[in-house]
Amino acid sequence: MPSQNTQQITLTRPDDFHLHLRDGAGLQSVLPHSAKQFARAIIMPNLRPPVTTTEQAIAYRERILSALPEGMSFKPLMTLYLTDNTTADEIKRAKESGFVHGVKLYPAGATTNSDAGVTDLKHCAKALEMMQQVGLPLLMHGEVTDPEIDLFDREAVFIDRVLLPLRKNMPELRIVFEHITTKEAAQYVTDAEGDIAATITAHHLLYNRNAIFQGGIRPHYYCLPVLKRETNRQALLAAATGNSNRFFIGTDSAPHPKELKEHACGCAGCYTALHGLELYAQAFDQVGAIDKLETFASFNGADFYRLPRNQDKVTLKRQSWVLPEQVPFGETVVVPLNAGETMQWQLAQ
Ligand code: NCD
Ligand code: ZN
Repeated sequence: MPSQNTQQITLTRPDDFHLHLRDGAGLQSVLPHSAKQFARAIIMPNLRPPVTTTEQAIAYRERILSALPEGMSFKPLMTLYLTDNTTADEIKRAKESGFVHGVKLYPAGATTNSDAGVTDLKHCAKALEMMQQVGLPLLMHGEVTDPEIDLFDREAVFIDRVLLPLRKNMPELRIVFEHITTKEAAQYVTDAEGDIAATITAHHLLYNRNAIFQGGIRPHYYCLPVLKRETNRQALLAAATGNSNRFFIGTDSAPHPKELKEHACGCAGCYTALHGLELYAQAFDQVGAIDKLETFASFNGADFYRLPRNQDKVTLKRQSWVLPEQVPFGETVVVPLNAGETMQWQLAQ
């Protein structure tokens, strides 16, 4: 059914299964944007220093809840940052706390604040075995860091070099392949046996790598894994709007101060917390699949994480509004993706 005539849709309130909230004054600024759109979010642990223990995750959760403005509700779902030294005991504590919903693998050096990440998964055998045993999912930043491998091939190579051997050794380990960007990853997750799923960002559904270079270098379109060529975007759209229940929302909204994005060596990360749901609506609408949005945004992720589906609803209207050029971010500002542009869908108040 062509959805071009749909003027509004009402769907179960969605969650964001991959979100960077940062900390301190920055957290205070960005949290209301996510809380307005999403009921819950999987909170990334790549703070400085990273969130490596259950105790730190619980303290971070408290800071998030105290930064939440009066009258708003939002449930942070915490994660631990896997290191070469994470113990099986720590994993057990995390699971038993009830607050930790996943453990994040950042290959050392792969992205923002990943220097404490894993140098080789063989160091994590005990922790991974415990995760497999207690059913705590591994959330993977799926890129190799080998400088010999072309930046655009790092996700596809990760599947062969890291993911396949890991899954052979630990077939029961539950895995989320985070922010997939390639047809290889979409294909693998669609076909693989066992308990695996993937998040897809709105920007990888809407843009290909040309966006980074259109008329000059555009740092606000630079994130990791980097945008890929059009054939990959098409494969991601097919996965997100298709019949597999293994794909779900994860904005990967990752705020950085404006001056560190517009810089000779700009940081990776797109800020989409202000308009995440509207961006997904636009992507689904462009391929006539707005009716598939609720499954992707509100059901598949909750089901994978074994969380109850949300009960309340949100409404998206087809109406234009203009995104601000920048919004406060602690003592500085952050430039949202699509700053100053007109959006086609708007979340009703
Ligand atoms: C993220 C960040 O800034 O924390 N950046 C990004 O480009 N996505 C880290 C990450 O998720 O890779
Ligand atoms: Zn991220």
